[in-house]
Amino acid sequence: MSLVSQLWSISPQIAAVGSCCLVGVICNGTLYIANLGDSRAVLGRLVKATGEVLAMQLSTEHNASIESIRQELYSMHPDDSNIVVLKHNVWRVKGIIQISRCIGDVYLKKAEFNREPLYAKFRVPQPFKRPILSSEPSILVHQLQPQDQFIIFASDGLWEHFSNQEAVDIVQNNPRAGIARRMVKTALKAAAKKREMRYSDLNKIDRGVRRHFHDDITVIVVFLDSNLMSRASTVKFPGISVRGGGVSIPHNTLAPFTTTTDNGGT
Ligand SMILES: *[C@@H]1O[C@H](CO)[C@@H](O)[C@H](O)[C@H]1NC(C)=O
Repeated sequence: MSLVSQLWSISPQIAAVGSCCLVGVICNGTLYIANLGDSRAVLGRLVKATGEVLAMQLSTEHNASIESIRQELYSMHPDDSNIVVLKHNVWRVKGIIQISRCIGDVYLKKAEFNREPLYAKFRVPQPFKRPILSSEPSILVHQLQPQDQFIIFASDGLWEHFSNQEAVDIVQNNPRAGIARRMVKTALKAAAKKREMRYSDLNKIDRGVRRHFHDDITVIVVFLDSNLMSRASTVKFPGISVRGGGVSIPHNTLAPFTTTTDNGGT
């Protein structure tokens, strides 16, 4: 909000820039997941009796296509029966945006940014008093168990192509190293197939134009080692292994096994 205030006079369109955000923190054996928008965290949990690893969803997308999200919007905006609108078979908040919470998009949070020189195509026609979109994350608290094997954090670009269980199966059935990159590649192959294209041809399309073929796909896989976690206070940890796709990350500075396709969107 303060950044947009500073830049409003020189770069007003920044008021219509936003992003989702998904954060995971592990502290003393407890996992905290904070979510804002349409990314999703999924846990892979071992069922000892059968040896299967089952998917357990740890967050809910703030997407107006979900009934409970629409109910939440109606209850937060009791005086606005048009807070969500079904247009061309898609539910959108104020007929504009599919997500109900995010970082940014401040023109939908403070009326003072919902005016010229912001392009008319972005503006909400009616004045509003209360923020239309929220910046409050949903927070889930999960006590980690020894059976908890790994957590997949991914943007909706991945979940568009895989169910939770399909994603868990990919992580479970492949080598750890490079697993996030493998998932992005598998998702891109699925995107290409839906377009009846070859993966190699999809890959040749420029970043900006790629947006029309598939959404951004960001994946982080965190492997949990219950032995290491329980001894964390007494043992020295091995270094974090980082494999980034498309970006170079200095060693030991970021989460393990991160990869992303940045095709120029938010
Ligand atoms: C919201 O959900 C619908 C239905 O699952 C999906 O098609 C759409 O891509 C989602 N939108 C966002 C912004 O995640």
